[in-house]
This record gives sequence, C-alpha cells and structure tokens, in this order.
Amino acid sequence: MKTTIILLTIILTFVLGTTHSATITCDLIATPYGNTLATNILRNASTHHTKTSCLGNTDQNKRITVQGQVEALYEDSFKDIPKLREIEIVDATLKEIQPGTFKDLPRLKSVSLEDTNLRELKSGTFVNLETSLLYLGRNSISVLREGAFQNLWNLRELSLESNDLRELKRGVFGNVSLGIFSLGNNSISTIEAGTFAEVSGRDKFGIGLSLFKNDIEEIDASVFDNKDIVSLDLGNNSISVLRPGDLRNLPKLSSISLSGNKLREVPEGVFSGSKITSVVLSCNEISFIAGGAFDDMKDLYFVDVSNNRVKEWSNNWFRGVESRLSIIFSYNSIEAIPADAFKNVPESSSLDLDHNRIQDIPDGAFGGMKGLRRLVLSYNKIRTWKSDLMRNVQVATFVDLRGNEIGCPEGGANSLVPGAKMVILDNCRGKGFKFT
Ligand SMILES: *[C@@H]1O[C@H](CO)[C@@H](O)[C@H](O)[C@H]1NC(C)=O
Ligand SMILES: *[C@@H]1O[C@H](CO)[C@@H](O)[C@H](O)[C@H]1NC(C)=O
Ligand SMILES: *[C@@H]1O[C@H](CO)[C@@H](O)[C@H](O)[C@H]1NC(C)=O
Ligand SMILES: *[C@@H]1O[C@H](CO)[C@@H](O)[C@H](O)[C@H]1NC(C)=O
Repeated sequence: MKTTIILLTIILTFVLGTTHSATITCDLIATPYGNTLATNILRNASTHHTKTSCLGNTDQNKRITVQGQVEALYEDSFKDIPKLREIEIVDATLKEIQPGTFKDLPRLKSVSLEDTNLRELKSGTFVNLETSLLYLGRNSISVLREGAFQNLWNLRELSLESNDLRELKRGVFGNVSLGIFSLGNNSISTIEAGTFAEVSGRDKFGIGLSLFKNDIEEIDASVFDNKDIVSLDLGNNSISVLRPGDLRNLPKLSSISLSGNKLREVPEGVFSGSKITSVVLSCNEISFIAGGAFDDMKDLYFVDVSNNRVKEWSNNWFRGVESRLSIIFSYNSIEAIPADAFKNVPESSSLDLDHNRIQDIPDGAFGGMKGLRRLVLSYNKIRTWKSDLMRNVQVATFVDLRGNEIGCPEGGANSLVPGAKMVILDNCRGKGFKFT
C-alpha cells in the first residue's frame, strides 16, 4: 500500500507538472509516536514539531498523503498550510471529520478520502471550497447531514460511490455545481423530491449523474428534476415500471442507462419526443415495447435492448428518427420479422439481431430501406434466404448469417446479399472472407 501511494505521488507529480514544488508523502504509520500521538500530529499540524519532517515546508507544501492512525480531522488539522492543493487520506481508522477542517485552504483542488471508517458527513464539512475533485468513495458513509456540501462552485467530480447511503434528502447539496456526480453502489432507495434540483452543471457539458447499483424502484419526475443533467446511469436498480413523462424534468438528458432493472414494458411517452441520443435497456425482462416508444427522437443514435424477452419486432419503431442508428436487439426471443420491418431505420444504421429465434424473413422485410452499415442475424433459426430478399439494400460492411440453417449457395456467401461488401456464413466461401 505504501509503495502504491509513493508511486501515485510520483505519477501525480509528473502528471500535474508540479515538479517545481516539493511533494511530500506524510506516512503516519511510519512515525514512532503511536496511534494517539499520530492523531495529534495532524490535529496540531501547524504547531507540532513534526511539521517540517512530515508536512514539510509550509510554503512549498502542496500535497499531503496520509496513511495511518488518524481517527479524526479537526478544524486546525490543516492550519497554516495555505498552499495545500491536494489531500489524500487512505486510513481505515478515520471516523470523523469536524466541520471547518478544509477551510482556510484557498488553493485546495483535490480531496480524496477513501477506504476510511467514515459513517457520517456533518453539516458544514465541505463548504465554500474551490475544490474541483472530491473523492469520498469506498467508505461507510450512511448519513449526509443537511449542508454537508454547500457553496461548491467548481467541482468537476463528486464521488460518494460504494458507501452505505440509503436515502438522499434535500438540503445536503445546496449550491453545488459539478460535472460528474457518482452515487453508485450504495443502497439508496429513497430520494426526497428536489434533491437533485439543488445541484447545477459546472459548465456547458452539464452533469453526469450515476446511481448504478442502488435500490431505486421508480423514476419519480419530482426527484429526477434538473435542467443540467445530460447523462443518467440507473443501471442495476430495481425499477420495474416506466411511465410516460418520467423523464420530463430532465430537458437536457442525452444518455440514459436502465440496464439490469426489472422492466417489463416500454410505453410510448418515456423517451419519445426527447433529445436523448443513447438509451440502454439491456438485461431487463422487457417483452413489450410500444410502437411509438422511440418516436420523434431526432438525435437518437444508440439503442441497446439486448438480453430481454422481446418476441415481436415492430415496424413502427423509430418513426421520425433522423440520425443513423446503432440498434442492438441481441439475445431476445424475436420469432418473426414483419414486412417493411426496418422502414423507419435511417440509412447507414447498424442492426444487431443475433441470438434470437427468427425463422422467417418475408419477401418485403427490407422494404423501404436503402442501406445499412451492418446487419447481424447470426444464431437465429433462419432456414431459407432468397437472394433477392435484400436486392435494393446496400450494406457497407457485412451481413453475418452464421449459426442459422442456411445452406451455402453455389455462388458463395456473397451471392445471398449482392449489395453487401461481405457476407459471413458457416462453411461457405465469401468475398474477402474464407472459411476453411
Ligand atoms: C496541540 O499542541 C499544543 C501546543 O503545542 C498542546 O498543548 C496540545 O495539547 C496539543 N493538542 C493535542 C490534541 O495534542
Ligand atoms: C461496491 O461496494 C463494495 C463495498 O461496499 C465493493 O466491495 C464492491 O467492489 C463495489 N462494487 C463496485 C462495482 O464498485
Ligand atoms: C446559495 O448561494 C446564494 C448566493 O450565491 C445564497 O444566497 C444562498 O443562501 C445559498 N444557498 C444555500 C443553500 O447555501
Ligand atoms: C450489473 O449486474 C450485472 C449482473 O449482476 C453485472 O454483471 C454487472 O457488472 C453489473 N453492472 C454494474 C455497473 O454494476
């Protein structure tokens, strides 16, 4: 661990280009003072005689790494080190941070407190700081007091990942503006309405909010209410229902992941009409997707519905979508493809329909479609494939037909789709591609 920290220090020094200043690693385990005294070293940082050996010259000191027996941080723990830029504490004994610990550190840019025994963040802990990075992951934090984070205008990233949070309340993140907000891997099941309305985006890139691996059961529009959130990760929660309007208070939302939930249906009016570009719905129990579910999503380019239970492909999907799409429906239970199945799919899109149960592809299946980038139909149950099935469709890269029951035609695999650059079929010679 010690080596890791020293290495990290060296790497960070290099990366941040602070070679002109001394970088000091303050490893309190190595001090001869024992646990109690070690705590006081930090408490009395400015007055204690170890100041020069441990904390270094106060004028030069820009970084402190503490790994040791420090049970608490106090208001004067970092006193008189005004040039301090980075604090890193990896210390299983740390239990408490007193409000005011980080005040009087106008240059503080990064605070990293991970793998500690912190269970609570008190009101006033992170207040009026210029800090851009606050890493508080992998602790045991279950309580965030009102005002624990306040007036933080420059945060690039706030991570509370992998703690024991069960609920989020309003008033904890007052006047916090940030870029990346990670609350993943907790046990959050309750979020008070307005909690996220209190945070704002730090710049034009908006906020990426991650709540993956929690116990959230629904998307409540009064909770998910923020004009700056551009990406939302709700993967691996317990969401079972999507309702029209669930995302209506997230006007800038561009990317959403609902992978690994308990969704069964996707109604119209959740995503349709929005500015969303990427929707991930993989690993749910979805068997029904309304015909209008993806209507009028002008900017949509990525849809992943893999690993669900979809039985029917609807030729109504993607009405009004304008950009080329990457559509992934791998590992579902689709049995048949209707006529004009892909009529709304824009030119140059990719279609992954592998590992389904498709048997029949009717003559008009590709009606109304000019071109694709890629078509993957491998590992289905297709028996016959007529060579005029895709006669008007150009495929820029390849058509993958492996794992079906299609025999190798005399003209080789490529004769199955004349407009494709390459066709892949088991035990069958193709253009630019040879099975031996
Ligand atoms: C801090 O230092 C002062 C004077 O150097 C000393 O009297 C006091 O006991 C120290 N505080 C702790 C908690 O050790
Ligand atoms: C989630 O947190 C636990 C500890 O709380 C940790 O062991 C695990 O690696 C974390 N998982 C992820 C995906 O971060
Ligand atoms: C947010 O900041 C404004 C001034 O910029 C202040 O008036 C207001 O009280 C602050 N709110 C909170 C919750 O701190
Ligand atoms: C979600 O859960 C699945 C299955 O348990 C796992 O494979 C995946 O890594 C998880 N993803 C995250 C982001 O935790």
